[in-house]
Amino acid sequence: MVASLLSARGLNKQFHSGNQPVSVLSNLSLSLEQGESLALTGRSGSGKSTLISILCGLEQPDSGRLTVLGEAFDGDAGRQTEARWASLRRQQIGVVFQEANLMPALSLLDNVRLRVRLAGQDEDGCRDWLERLGIGELAARYPDQVSGGQRQRAALAMVFAMKPALILADEPTGSLDRHTAEDVTGQLFDLQARYGCGLILATHDIELATRCNHHLDLGHQPEA
Ligand SMILES: Nc1ncnc2c1ncn2[C@@H]1O[C@H](COP(=O)(O)OP(=O)(O)O)[C@@H](O)[C@H]1O
Ligand SMILES: [Mg+2]
Repeated sequence: MVASLLSARGLNKQFHSGNQPVSVLSNLSLSLEQGESLALTGRSGSGKSTLISILCGLEQPDSGRLTVLGEAFDGDAGRQTEARWASLRRQQIGVVFQEANLMPALSLLDNVRLRVRLAGQDEDGCRDWLERLGIGELAARYPDQVSGGQRQRAALAMVFAMKPALILADEPTGSLDRHTAEDVTGQLFDLQARYGCGLILATHDIELATRCNHHLDLGHQPEA
């Protein structure tokens, strides 16, 4: 049976620019099942990063219902809600940003180990994940001693090593040259298919979006 990883219904989000409210997400609904991928596209400023942040609890919607990995969130704020989100992010949701979010004082291998430890997973396979991503020989290097593409591979190693149920990737190759971006994206899709986790990928690359099972264009949402 396919399990529902995520379901969002009627999400709304406004920010304020001066005194003026600016609607960023309006009556937005989406769903994702186990092993599926969903591309979020839309011009810069269309709300991709805001939606990714809402889907992992870093930002709260103004209204709407959200169920992520069996946990229901319906706009209730407070410490308990924050703790539930923090636990999901630590253990089950891998987030990848445009710039790899590595601890500068730790080697690539220790970055992977730290992430895995936080997720409560076994550290034994960490080096294998760097090998799988083609950066095994760089395990002892620090983030500022490797290239942007290698850092982003390390970020992917961190995320897959924690065995997430869901990966949220916000323009993960946006800072890389085209060739490196294609390599890193290929690895992301291969590993996602092999390990069967869900993937939500924000991108402005339409070609990339066609490689996902589903596609949601935030530039063309129906009016609320
Ligand atoms: N914390 C914030 N405060 C005010 N406005 C914000 C904030 N975060 C995002 N925005 C605005 O919301 C809109 C959507 O931004 P964002 O989600 O970053 O879009 P995208 O990722 O598609 O480029 C933009 O107009 C942006 O300026
Ligand atoms: Mg963005």
